[in-house]
Amino acid sequence: MCGIIGYIGKEKAAPILVKGLKNLEYRGYDSAGFSTIDNGTLLIAKDTGKLNEIELKININELHGCVGISHCRWATHGNVTQENAHPHTDCTGRISIVHNGIIENFSELKEMLIAKNHKFSSSTDTEVISHLIEEYYTGNLPEAVRKALKEVEGSYALGVLSADEPDIIVAARNESPLIIGKGKNAMFIASDVPAILEHTNEIIYLDDKEIAVLTKSNFRVFDLDGREKKKEIKKISWSMEDAEKGGYEHFMLKEIYEQPRAIEDTINGRLKNGTINIKEELGMDENSLKKISKIIIVACGTSWHSALVGEFMLEELAKIPVEVEYASEFRYRNPIVDADTLVIGISQSGETADTIAAMKEAKRRGAHVISICNVMGSSITRISDAVLYTRAGPEIGVASTKAFTTQLAVLYLLTMHFAKLKNTLTEKQLQSMAQGIRKIPLQMQAVLEKDAETEELAHLYHKSTNALYLGRGANFPIALEGALKMKEVSYIHAEGYPAAEMKHGPIALIDKNMPVVFVAPYDTYTYKKILGNIEEVKARGGIVIAIATEGDREVAKKAGHVIYIPDSLYTLSSMLSVIPLQLLAYHTAKKLGKDVDKPRSLAKSVTVE
Ligand code: M6R
Repeated sequence: MCGIIGYIGKEKAAPILVKGLKNLEYRGYDSAGFSTIDNGTLLIAKDTGKLNEIELKININELHGCVGISHCRWATHGNVTQENAHPHTDCTGRISIVHNGIIENFSELKEMLIAKNHKFSSSTDTEVISHLIEEYYTGNLPEAVRKALKEVEGSYALGVLSADEPDIIVAARNESPLIIGKGKNAMFIASDVPAILEHTNEIIYLDDKEIAVLTKSNFRVFDLDGREKKKEIKKISWSMEDAEKGGYEHFMLKEIYEQPRAIEDTINGRLKNGTINIKEELGMDENSLKKISKIIIVACGTSWHSALVGEFMLEELAKIPVEVEYASEFRYRNPIVDADTLVIGISQSGETADTIAAMKEAKRRGAHVISICNVMGSSITRISDAVLYTRAGPEIGVASTKAFTTQLAVLYLLTMHFAKLKNTLTEKQLQSMAQGIRKIPLQMQAVLEKDAETEELAHLYHKSTNALYLGRGANFPIALEGALKMKEVSYIHAEGYPAAEMKHGPIALIDKNMPVVFVAPYDTYTYKKILGNIEEVKARGGIVIAIATEGDREVAKKAGHVIYIPDSLYTLSSMLSVIPLQLLAYHTAKKLGKDVDKPRSLAKSVTVE
């Protein structure tokens, strides 16, 4: 949560910061602010609201200077007010900082600083850092930041300026993402790549407890004891076009439509002539892999839903027992993990604090820990023994869409790998799995072509105040995901349930105003039972919307509305059935006039506990 960008170079900093910050707004959008240095004076402008509102309130042109830092906020400590917006300054007004993270010992530090006569002007945890730096400042900013951070407990990505040292930006990170970008005659700091992609694709990933000192032509990195560290410059392959809307009205819609391409990219090179090829990426020898007796998947939100589909695939086809855990719960329990347990962290951003903590805990307990992640070099990838990347490209919309289906693709490939290794499927079955996933991009395209049907449903039902989503097997998680998408972007109360659970309670909610979405592609186990559940809803006057397999006439006879998806292997059907639900949420939110890409109270990556 919260986005940071900093610039030092030859051009005026403020316009670069504004533009970059717009690409980070998915991380927080309740307030924003800027600080630059002009002729030895520290300038600050900040306010509440989204960036385009703030641009009308403050005059960015008045922020002169070729060095600056800026911040978009997602409030954790302190209300959404101008005072609490970043940057924050020290008592002299000559040091400014932007911060993403949470300072856990801020109360103690604040008390100590107040006793030393420091005057606070906000109720944030962040402000203690600027006063702490002031306490240690004797004309050497990197040194003062280093000493201050030695006293700080918690997570931080920091950008710091001092009017007395206008030729440097000092940056630091601990458990919150921060990268350095090396441009032409300019250096950047940012929370995420899209903020600076327009200027450079040469990225340096800061590690925990590292401090960086940037000039306009160089950077140096130190640990908290002042020892210099060597850092590698990585070239990333995302283009600016990848991170822009490309003619779509919203990122969410663009990203829904990018799914066929994203799946294609994700499976490319990993399936050769029907043979699965992820051995090297997994980085484990065959014997250790064969010994794995249990898999635990830790994740949050949408990634947790993909884990549930993964559980279905891995147990059904590779016959490995799988437990799916909310990362936030796993870390505070006493999980049973040993050297034969494989722990998989799934995360789009690779920066979700709970998932990071759960993976660290699993490692501490001796498990082999791998991740499925979309962002190269993110924190989660750096604590993993191996990473299977989803190749979805940058996902900017707060509601996760293409990351979800690419996670499913990777889980499917992983299932094939284990099934082959453990001999749980024949060569013929594996070939058929490979053919099945190869067809998915085209089949997704076919589902996307039915967008008008979901738009029509949104038109009919966007005024509903509640909705139920029901599914079974590999499509129960899709019911959860469909409901989550609807809640997130339209603020309509929606719940996902296993279809058979309906009769144990939720059935009491059903009346003529309740849309019930059945995710009911054909399968050999539960399809008939779902037809029964549809009858039960109809008998109570509920509105039945079904997602069914092309050609299914039974469902058409019973449901009020059917959206058909192409026939596929059942384990792959979730990759198709989720698309109409993503579109339904999108169109509903749009009809209700909601801010689809920046839903209230949410942030793209939840980097706090
Ligand atoms: O980046 P991650 O996949 O770790 O994020 C996990 C959740 O915060 C995320 O999926 C969240 O639930 C999305 N807003 C869902 O659309």
